[in-house]
Amino acid sequence: MAHNREDIYKLIKVLSDGNVHSGESLGDVIGVTRAAVWKRLQRLQQLGLTVESVRGQGYRLPGGCDLLDLDSIQPSLSRRARSLVGVCKVFFELPSTNEYLLRETPVHGAVCLAEQQTAGRGRRGRVWSSPFAANIYLSVRWHFNQGVQALEGLSLAVGVAVARALESLGLQAVQLKWPNDILCNQKKLGGVLIEVGGDLNGDCAAIVGVGLNVAMPAESGAAIGQPWTDLTGCGLKVSRNEVAARLMEELLSLLSGYQEMGFGPLRQAWMDRAAYVGERVTVRADKDSREGVFCGIDEHGALGFEVDGVVEWLSGGEVSVRSEVVK
Ligand code: BTN
Repeated sequence: MAHNREDIYKLIKVLSDGNVHSGESLGDVIGVTRAAVWKRLQRLQQLGLTVESVRGQGYRLPGGCDLLDLDSIQPSLSRRARSLVGVCKVFFELPSTNEYLLRETPVHGAVCLAEQQTAGRGRRGRVWSSPFAANIYLSVRWHFNQGVQALEGLSLAVGVAVARALESLGLQAVQLKWPNDILCNQKKLGGVLIEVGGDLNGDCAAIVGVGLNVAMPAESGAAIGQPWTDLTGCGLKVSRNEVAARLMEELLSLLSGYQEMGFGPLRQAWMDRAAYVGERVTVRADKDSREGVFCGIDEHGALGFEVDGVVEWLSGGEVSVRSEVVK
């Protein structure tokens, strides 16, 4: 099975240029006959790719396929970012990039990207829709030595880093929804999931996972239980490698100073992009659900909301915010 997967990846890499390749040459790439190639190509269709058979010539992927490629990502990184990367890997398929860095790569500064996730994880136990070669699924592992306390506000800070990365690519009007949804046109464009391993009072590792919709196929999008968008839908046409590089740049820069600086210096940057400030929102914590006016966040990243003239502050946990307008 693993061998098969590698073969499929090799075939997609060859076909990703959008040109016609003969069955014979494709067979040579993976050491099988021309007839056996066709069987493998059917697997590409299952991944959502359109394989066109060109009579008497071979096969092609019309329009090619924008695959992730470390050789394209690395030259776009600054020298500083490159020095912060422990190891960087791109996978054809993983259950979850967060899971991989949490359990299988105990390296500080490790970065992991996957073309697809078979068990992509969202917040609150949700599934994160992760179709092949369509979006960004990226995780970074970062070690802290002052326990989880040093991570206060980190998920909001990551939202700021993601917004900055997107803005540097020319996307206007990126908004952040507490605690860390990335919105564009009031629809969800991306999300952040931070998981922690190690000693919660001392040496621990934060796995910072970012999922960003780039060109979500309609079939995969249909399964998402809330209004969503992708970079294409927001009018930004950009290679996923460029997006990945900008995200790595911002995330590594943020993480390298976070233990020392904390969230405080980023509060204003978060507020500048905040969605729903001054609007009525529903705040859900566990099974409770309350309504109030969202008044912003404090220097710890806690959410302030006003009920009957009194401002209450809520932090982390399982709290979610929903605008009254956008359901
Ligand atoms: C959310 O629910 O808003 C958070 C979604 C986070 C998804 C990313 S994709 C990369 C990383 N690996 C995962 O399994 N989840 C995160």
